[in-house]
Amino acid sequence: MPLLESAAKLFRLVYILCWDLSLTLVNLVTPSLKPGRIVPHESPGAGGKWPEFVPPKEGDSRCACPMLNALANHGILPHDGRNIRFTELTQTVRTSYNFASTFCVFVPRYAADLLLKNYKTDTFDLAELSQHNGIEHDASLTRQDAEYDPDQSRVHLPFVNALLACASGKDRAGHVRLTPADVSRYSSTRRAAARATNPAFTLSRTHKMFGSSNSSTLLTILGGRVADVEVFLKEERIPAGWEPRAAHRMGLTMLAFQRTVLKVECAIDEGAVLSEGDAE
Ligand code: HEM
Repeated sequence: MPLLESAAKLFRLVYILCWDLSLTLVNLVTPSLKPGRIVPHESPGAGGKWPEFVPPKEGDSRCACPMLNALANHGILPHDGRNIRFTELTQTVRTSYNFASTFCVFVPRYAADLLLKNYKTDTFDLAELSQHNGIEHDASLTRQDAEYDPDQSRVHLPFVNALLACASGKDRAGHVRLTPADVSRYSSTRRAAARATNPAFTLSRTHKMFGSSNSSTLLTILGGRVADVEVFLKEERIPAGWEPRAAHRMGLTMLAFQRTVLKVECAIDEGAVLSEGDAE
């Protein structure tokens, strides 16, 4: 990579991290958004009123990300999943899921770089995001490995059922919840099984972090609530009346999100799964 390009990327990263830190500080000193007010009032989904769900039809483009597919299924992203501007993805993820602007710029920019496209001017089809070992990786919690199913837009229901069956928590309102420990346990199982059975298995440190980041959205943006997680992951639909559980005024920042991601990733232990298997 030419020196100038690397320097520009480093500068951009430092800029985003400083911006993220300032949003985190603002969140610390400002009250959270009130229930019913988390999605901005002019955006689809305001007050829990989401546009109609229409399942994808033949020829529509979908990807390995259930949450982006859900946005397309409700027409918040283009329903055919095609010719989406990266900047449109930024805007839509910001308003629909209440991730902070920093995350909403960082991830689509990362995707644009991976696809060798220009973040500001280019478009993509959702299926392009499923490029193997780009952001997509082995041992996912909702998809079979690409070796077994090249169509990464397809959910593998037995994995989702097994994940939901791990839920051991309850929130104050009595909703059954996935906890970080539950997600770590199921991730350990998936990684150990994929490593043992998939001859093409790979999982770099970066992809481990992507895996834990993706699954941590279930704990933060969805608050771990099994009833909601089930609808999002199995049907790629936004439940009626749903709103993001992260209510920070500036959205969930990368810094705040990392607390959950690291908790999940650090407790993943493939060895423990293997020795449990030995004990049985
Ligand atoms: C901002 C742009 C985003 C991009 C480019 C993106 C991309 C991806 C990709 C490529 C995967 C497949 C990873 C794998 O192989 O397991 C994925 C999975 C996933 N993403 Fe996203 N995503 C984005 C936003 C989000 C948001 C906002 C959420 C939550 C609100 C989310 C939640 C998930 C979940 C739960 C999975 C499934 C993980 C699994 O199967 O293990 N993503 N995403």
